Amino acid sequence: MTIISNNISKAVKILNNEDVVAIPTETVYGLAGNIYSDKAIRKIFEVKQRPLFNPLIVHLHSAEQLDEIVSDFPPKAQLLADAFWPGSLTLVLKKKSTIPDVITAGKETVAVRIPNHPVTLKLLKKLSFPLAAPSANPFNRISPTKALHVESYFKYSIQMVLEGGECKNGLESTIIGFENNEPILYRLGAISTEEIENVVGKINVKNKKEKTPNAPGMLAKHYSPKTKTYLVNDIDKFITDYEDRTIGLVSFSEAITASNIKHIEILSKSRDLKEAASNLYSSLHTLDHLGLDMIVAQRFPDIGLGKSINDRLERATK
Ligand code: TXA
Ligand code: MG
Repeated sequence: MTIISNNISKAVKILNNEDVVAIPTETVYGLAGNIYSDKAIRKIFEVKQRPLFNPLIVHLHSAEQLDEIVSDFPPKAQLLADAFWPGSLTLVLKKKSTIPDVITAGKETVAVRIPNHPVTLKLLKKLSFPLAAPSANPFNRISPTKALHVESYFKYSIQMVLEGGECKNGLESTIIGFENNEPILYRLGAISTEEIENVVGKINVKNKKEKTPNAPGMLAKHYSPKTKTYLVNDIDKFITDYEDRTIGLVSFSEAITASNIKHIEILSKSRDLKEAASNLYSSLHTLDHLGLDMIVAQRFPDIGLGKSINDRLERATK
């Protein structure tokens, strides 16, 4: 029996009962629970096998709820919120003392966003608490962009996936924190750096692959298929070098023929980076289920969302 359902009232009931529900957002599906329920939040960590040092994002339906969550809102945070909420921007801000430590991994800051998905906004409005929601994938696996992806990961460990169709953006939110009131980019994501800089000017980037990162989305190994994955500049050379292996290819816009390429996922025939980003994870899910020796992706143009796509592919190859 499927756990996928579009019954919002059922989701409300489960969440009010301190249990978890997978929810759609415009970025990826999240695994959601009441931020004030220790039981629900611990279940999120347990289901995902996520280490407790990795803090969660708090999801709100409106900016009016911010007073309950954060104690300080720098002017440039306001500019970014006005420009991108509801949407794929997460802001890391000073937290109110009422926010449980398990949400923030004991940090003085909390990550917040207002997602732009009609089903989840409707759900959030029916609840008396915000939802904490990390991406609904086991730790270190590919994020889900369809209800079916979540079901195949968590069919036996959660009660319900709220159906919301395919995620429009298909990459996690862009995360911005603040140091001395100046914005710092912690995670490349669904909103490009150029779009952010159009609003607040040049920003510093701390999207490094560190061992103890500010945002563990930054951990060097992350978002990985089980199949060994490569990101390469020269695809033709790679195909020749691995002549005797079965290969699944992630291509921006072109089909390449070779006897060892068993399947190709073209992310955007018209070379639209936004379209390519929205198809990336779904293509990796597909390729990962084909029992191939390797997945290879050709490096994307290093502009706009191409940077976010390359970032995720680099982490998939570790
Ligand atoms: O698009 C998204 O952001 C999705 C959807 C479901 O909203 N959520 C998501 O959550 O990607 P998750 O948990 O997979 O990634 C959240 C990232 C983690 O890398 C975490 O370390 C970082 O946000 N984060 C959370 N709180 C933080 C804080 N106080 N300071 C720095 N980073 C934080
Ligand atoms: Mg994640």
